Amino acid sequence: MRLFSSFACRDVRARNRIVASPMCQYGSVDGRLTDWHLAHLGRLGIGGAGIVFVEETAVAATGRKTHACAGLWDDDQVPSFRRVAALLDGVGAVPAIQLGHAGRRASTHEARRDWAPLRDSDRAAGLPPWRAVGPSPVPVDPGWPVPAALTPAGIDDLVRAWAAAASRAVAAGFRIVEIHGAHGYLLHQFLSPVTNRRTDGYGGSRPARMRLAVEVTEAVRAALPAGVPLFFRVSCVDGRGGAWSLEDTVELARVLRSRGVDVVDCSSGGIAGDSAMPLLRRVPGYQVEFAHAVRRRAGVATMAVGLITEPRQAQAVLDSGACDLVGLARELLVRGDWPHAAAVELGEPAPYDLLPPAYAFRLRRRDTVARMPLNDPEAAGDPTEDELRVLDST
Ligand SMILES: Cc1cc2nc3c(=O)[nH]c(=O)nc-3n(C[C@H](O)[C@H](O)[C@H](O)COP(=O)(O)O)c2cc1C
Repeated sequence: MRLFSSFACRDVRARNRIVASPMCQYGSVDGRLTDWHLAHLGRLGIGGAGIVFVEETAVAATGRKTHACAGLWDDDQVPSFRRVAALLDGVGAVPAIQLGHAGRRASTHEARRDWAPLRDSDRAAGLPPWRAVGPSPVPVDPGWPVPAALTPAGIDDLVRAWAAAASRAVAAGFRIVEIHGAHGYLLHQFLSPVTNRRTDGYGGSRPARMRLAVEVTEAVRAALPAGVPLFFRVSCVDGRGGAWSLEDTVELARVLRSRGVDVVDCSSGGIAGDSAMPLLRRVPGYQVEFAHAVRRRAGVATMAVGLITEPRQAQAVLDSGACDLVGLARELLVRGDWPHAAAVELGEPAPYDLLPPAYAFRLRRRDTVARMPLNDPEAAGDPTEDELRVLDST
């Protein structure tokens, strides 16, 4: 079954094609991950996902959306990420991380509050605002602070910051790195003519608007060992008032593939207004068609994401040839063990294999014992070597 077949890319082999998509928790302290991240991400790894992504992690302090966002702009932040990567590795999931920069969407309150820009009045609560940057001085909405247009020197610094953060991610033990080029954040702001009004080499024509995404990709690829896969998340179409189209995305994907991107992670929206505002009707699998088009036309592996919630649906999406990986986010918040439960539902022969050995042994044993007729242990079937060892020792 394709959902539970392994996914091999460069030196990485994931145990299945289920990906825990990045999910900001707004629980970091000075960019560092905390115990909450260990619990949250550990739960997703324990539940059987093949690849588990750490949330968008800022490559520069000023590229955070909020004071509580994760970041890898400093070597001191690495140990907190190493704990998470080690935990994920230990439970059989491939530790993966998304690197990002919020651009003009930096310096805001958390999503669960109102995602509004920080103001001077927030200083008293320990949340001083900072000046956001972007391709052009175009605010998110009327009344939002006007971002500073990045200078060429500022762009160079940022490209170096992406590469440095990628190196730190590898040093922390992450085995897949994703560049966040979607959802109206910095790279998407450069891609879309809605937000990019530049007249230098980074604006105007499509190749010029793609230039920063390509430069960041080249720098990150160069910073990664050859065996580490590189993913790129793109908004396949803009959000409200958008001008970046699926055609543009296919062209971008072709270029990114030629620069060493292994998987294009196909999302959408976010360029204007509320970045969570739906542009597409939120029907099951609402972005799958994008992943399919990119895979077919750009000849690159894709990840489909967006309201993929049911095992048979996930299997069908993969069987349709739309993608190589399926990403789940919100469903995993309520069903952290979705991969294991999906394996049971779809009749996979060894669903407990997705769980850590400490769980799997006891669950297999429970099934064996349930089959035993009373007072007739012989009839329970032969215990496995592992079972005999533990029966002897407990
Ligand atoms: C709590 C939460 C936080 C998110 N944070 C990120 C993020 O850090 N980076 C990102 O690219 N997408 C983020 N997303 C989007 C998800 O990765 C995913 O693409 C989206 O929720 C659609 O998938 P779903 O229908 O399975 O939830 C977030 C979504 C949620 C629900």
